[in-house]
Amino acid sequence: MIEISRYTELSEEVRNQMNHHINDEFGHIPIVAETEWATPNWTILYYDNEQITTFYNIVIREIKIDNKQIRVGGINNVMTPKEFRGMGYASKALQETENVIFNDLDCQMGLLLCADNLIPFYEKLNWYNIECPVYFEQSSGKKLWGAQTMLLTRNGKISPDKIELNGLPW
Ligand SMILES: CC(C)(COP(=O)(O)OP(=O)(O)OC[C@H]1O[C@@H](n2cnc3c(N)ncnc32)[C@H](O)[C@@H]1OP(=O)(O)O)[C@@H](O)C(=O)NCCC(=O)NCCS
Repeated sequence: MIEISRYTELSEEVRNQMNHHINDEFGHIPIVAETEWATPNWTILYYDNEQITTFYNIVIREIKIDNKQIRVGGINNVMTPKEFRGMGYASKALQETENVIFNDLDCQMGLLLCADNLIPFYEKLNWYNIECPVYFEQSSGKKLWGAQTMLLTRNGKISPDKIELNGLPW
C-alpha cells in the first residue's frame, strides 16, 4: 500500500521511525551533518503487511535549468529499513510512484542528488545522471554540489549546462 502525506502532517511515530533510519544511515557522514537541507513537502510511505518497507520525501521547487524556471519534484532520503533491503521494495515504490511527481504534484521533472554508487540502481528506474554544475544555497552562500545529480524526464533526456536549485538542497 502506498501512502502520500504532507511532511508536516506525518504522525510523530512515523516521523520518529523515519528519523531513526535516516540518522542511522547518514548521521555519521560529515558532509551530510554539515549541510543545511530543505524541509520536504511530501512523504511517500510504502507499506507491506502494515510495516513501512520503503519511504522517501519529495521537495517541490521551482529551479533554474539553463535559463528556464522548471517545477521539479526533488527526491530525498530514499530508504528501505535494513531488514527489508534487497527485496525489491525501493524499486517498486519508486516505479509505482513515478507518476505522482508528474501528475499529482504537477512537476515537469524529478531531480535527485546522490552518491556515485547508486547511479546503476536509479538508472534501472529510468533516471539518468547529468554532468553539469548544480548550485544550491547555504546560510554561508552559494555552493557547488560535489556528487551526482540525476533526472527523471518525460520526453527524452536533456543535458543542461547549469542548474540552480534556488534554495537549500535535498
Ligand atoms: C538504496 C536502497 C534505498 C535500496 O532499497 P532496496 O529496497 O533494498 O532496493 P531494491 O531491493 O529495489 O534494489 C536493491 C538494489 O539496490 C542497489 N543498491 C543498494 N545499495 C547499494 C549501494 N550501497 N551501492 C550500490 N548499489 C546499491 C543494488 O543494485 C541492489 O541490487 P541487489 O540487491 O541485486 O544487489 C537501500 O539500500 C537503502 O535504504 N540504503 C541506505 C539509504 C540510501 O543510500 N538511500 C539512497 C539515498 S540517494
